Amino acid sequence: MDKIVIEGGFPLTGEIAISGAKNSAIKLMVVSLLTDQKVTLTNMPRLRDTRFLGQLLAHMGVEVEEGPGAKMTLHAADLSNTTAPYDLVRKMRASFNVLGPLLARAGEAKVSLPGGCAIGARPVDLHLKSLEAMGAKIKLDQGYVIASAKGGLKGAEITFPFISVGATEHAMLTAVLAKGETVLNNAAREPEIVDLAECLNAMGAKITGAGRSEVRIEGVSKLSGVTHSVVPDRIEAGTYALAAATAGGSVRLTNIRSDHLGSLWPLIAQAGAKVSLDETTVLIERGGGRPKPVDVDTQAYPGFPTDLQAQFMGLMCLADGVSIIRENIFENRFMHCPELARMGADITVTGREAIVRGVKEYRAAPVMATDLRASASLINAGLAARGETHISRVYHLDRGFEHIEVKLGQCGARIRREKE
Ligand code: UD1
Repeated sequence: MDKIVIEGGFPLTGEIAISGAKNSAIKLMVVSLLTDQKVTLTNMPRLRDTRFLGQLLAHMGVEVEEGPGAKMTLHAADLSNTTAPYDLVRKMRASFNVLGPLLARAGEAKVSLPGGCAIGARPVDLHLKSLEAMGAKIKLDQGYVIASAKGGLKGAEITFPFISVGATEHAMLTAVLAKGETVLNNAAREPEIVDLAECLNAMGAKITGAGRSEVRIEGVSKLSGVTHSVVPDRIEAGTYALAAATAGGSVRLTNIRSDHLGSLWPLIAQAGAKVSLDETTVLIERGGGRPKPVDVDTQAYPGFPTDLQAQFMGLMCLADGVSIIRENIFENRFMHCPELARMGADITVTGREAIVRGVKEYRAAPVMATDLRASASLINAGLAARGETHISRVYHLDRGFEHIEVKLGQCGARIRREKE
């Protein structure tokens, strides 16, 4: 297993090109199940999660070709298998999204209940309810969802009791080939949902309202192939912006959609870093002096993303004062706190709230990555800590950050990967 070693305490200076969004890429790959023609994705990140999903799709008969560069081509001329086995699904929760498209294309599917990051219970009840509303017959058997829609799927009016990114995407991926109109109420509005809708519409789907709370999908009988560029990764961009704010220095991020992080920039500025934006780049500069405390409340988009909560806390641990960080999306997403505490942070967690009392500096320490985004907060803390921080279990990090040590290394970070 690999670990990351960081000799911290040096400001970051340089430029980082942001990759395509993991959370979009893994839904766009699933789109390939909906057509017998080629789906070509550009600006694709190369990650463990995209590799896992590629393996799952290949298992179903999809020809998956990676490269050259940031390109991936997927071709599901025929589906040879409609089962998604536990071994492949458990590695990544989002692979559960193959269920609806398999049903839509083949009329049947057997998909293992998912695994993924250990950040709370994360059930899939909303996913299943929306598929049932579209006419799917579903039973659960030995950890598998066994679904059929022999007479085809039909459009339905679905009202989500609370916002779910995955359930919104799954319903969209299924409804595009259903007969009649589907209306999704209280839909998630994340940029990745808009990206998915744009890709599907370019294939001939009829989706309106993506990015708003009400999404309408008029089913079509067939979708064509497509070439689509994956939206830039707002979480990767936010993570490096917070790395610069935490370690200090001056870092320019390119290939971003700055409007997708409208909730982050004012908070970084309030914390005392200078933020200079245009549409596709941002420059983050932080000189001497401690950051100022800023409270954060995670919310569904366009609110502050839960996927940047750990990294923002990493900055607040050094603030000159007390900040309160509230996690509203997942019930168990403070696993980075004890690890940050090993590096000297002073954090008290009560339920969904963390009280962060800023300390003057981080102390380098051996720490353990517990989930994907938590690992990123440890990297950022390690960059600021004087001495050598060793972060083990970096496979979490490799799920979602492309070449993290190369990208940070370009900005002068003394960061390397070692075998444990
Ligand atoms: C996606 C993102 C993840 C991000 C999250 C919230 C991907 C691959 N992952 O995850 O990085 O942190 O959105 O922005 O895109 N829930 C249920 N029942 C369901 C579905 C969800 O109770 O059927 C709950 C979840 O446990 C959670 C909340 O709803 O508490 C929101 O989850 P959801 O928006 O679905 O997150 P994901 O799509 O899993």
